[in-house]
Amino acid sequence: MGIFSFLTKEIAIDLGTANTIIIHNDKVVVDEPSIVALDRVTGKIIAVGKKAMLMHGKTHENIKTIRPLKDGVIADFQSAEYMIREMIKMISTKKPLFPPALKMVICIPSGITEVEERAVRDSAEQAGAKEVKLIHEPMAAAIGIGIDVLEPTGNMVIDIGGGTSEIAVIALGGIVCNKSIRIAGDDFNQDIEEYMRKQHNITIGERTAERIKIEVGAAIPELDNPPQDYAVQGRDMLTGTPREIYVNYREIAHCLDKSISKIEAAVLNALEMTPPELCADIYRTGIYLAGGGSMLRGLDKRIAQKTKLQVHVAEDPLRAVARGTGIALKNFDKFTFLIK
Ligand SMILES: Nc1ncnc2c1ncn2[C@@H]1O[C@H](COP(=O)(O)OP(=O)(O)OP(=O)(O)O)[C@@H](O)[C@H]1O
Ligand SMILES: [Mg+2]
Repeated sequence: MGIFSFLTKEIAIDLGTANTIIIHNDKVVVDEPSIVALDRVTGKIIAVGKKAMLMHGKTHENIKTIRPLKDGVIADFQSAEYMIREMIKMISTKKPLFPPALKMVICIPSGITEVEERAVRDSAEQAGAKEVKLIHEPMAAAIGIGIDVLEPTGNMVIDIGGGTSEIAVIALGGIVCNKSIRIAGDDFNQDIEEYMRKQHNITIGERTAERIKIEVGAAIPELDNPPQDYAVQGRDMLTGTPREIYVNYREIAHCLDKSISKIEAAVLNALEMTPPELCADIYRTGIYLAGGGSMLRGLDKRIAQKTKLQVHVAEDPLRAVARGTGIALKNFDKFTFLIK
């Protein structure tokens, strides 16, 4: 550590569609939903993260909530920048005498365009970053899972987040082949909203759909430990009044089937693209799952059945990418695969 190191603050950011996690000094210091609430009249930020999430879907005309990321990339530049800035402020309660120079590693989906990559970099710089390197999400996930990515062994990682599902085969510190599709947890929520409308004539909001997914979501119609049916309140489309119904996991497995099939197809496609030597490695090691979407009941089993490979879900899958990004930060100069 240099004598001026107190003037530099090193942080790793997993800027996700659903959640943003910041790691500083090896600890998770911020873990908040990626959302901001704005005052429409003054244009000022009212709340960020959990506080803003509480307002989501419940705002009146003077307040609007914005999720700055969509499909893994920045969709609203200004609010993304606000969000990053405010979340960095959450790290320390003490106001520093001088704002420290920020050194950052941020993860990005592997399928993003140069323009989208530029937007992430610009937001970070606008939020005070002096040195920024980027890391591809599946690479960060692999590191976070504990895989030695520099080894000459192939490993397949699938990161199912809110906006994107990323499938990659990693060996020798690089991504050998990858497939990134913009179908993930957010799409599952939309599937559930649509299903409730069509099947039960009830309209629900995004947050309720997400609760249903977490409480009774499933990827297969037969579970060993099925969850109890879940009571859902929404608006009856025929009468316009509030109503309650019960949903079970089989219905949700049915309504998520199409989206999950698309993820499965992408996994098979990635396996087809994998060079034979690495295929042999994957046959032995299996597939690793990370990201919040991998917590959907039975998803590991379904992918295992489809690929006939072993599937392992990462420990604390919601934080695997952030953990890996944190390790990349500590190897800022050593990991040559970080993107300058
Ligand atoms: N128990 C659960 N079952 C199913 N899905 C879950 C569960 N817990 C969280 N999720 C989903 O995981 C998603 C968030 O995962 P994660 O934080 O990894 O995404 P992200 O990194 O923000 O998104 P992305 O990487 O696509 O930009 C959300 O869609 C959330 O609904
Ligand atoms: Mg993610």
